[in-house]
Amino acid sequence: MDSQCNPLQIAESLSEYWFPKVISLVDNHYVKVAKLKGSFVWHKHDQQDELFLILKGSLVMEYEDKKIELRAGDLHVVPKGTLHNPVAEKECLVMLIEHKETAHAGKSENSKSRSIDEQLGTFVTENS
Ligand code: NI
Repeated sequence: MDSQCNPLQIAESLSEYWFPKVISLVDNHYVKVAKLKGSFVWHKHDQQDELFLILKGSLVMEYEDKKIELRAGDLHVVPKGTLHNPVAEKECLVMLIEHKETAHAGKSENSKSRSIDEQLGTFVTENS
């Protein structure tokens, strides 16, 4: 695990949309980057908040009763237990902070959903 990395550069290098990559670990939370385009899937995380920091482009976080428009530099936390769907009209790069237990698409079955093992890739924690 490198002590220093550049989230934007790593996000730029991703080749697949909606495939988060773990870049760091902060206690029991993963820091991830992802490249997004199009609509993901409506889902919620019952027990965990989910932090989005927009690195490049823009993202709309859809909720049942509102839409939050996010631009590069904006930070947004999706509250636990709240249905949400991220939508990127054009390619968008994000950094995420998520609890280790957070499932990508909540309990939703979806072909875009990636397991934590897939998201970890070659990332190695000191405990593993
Ligand atoms: Ni989510």
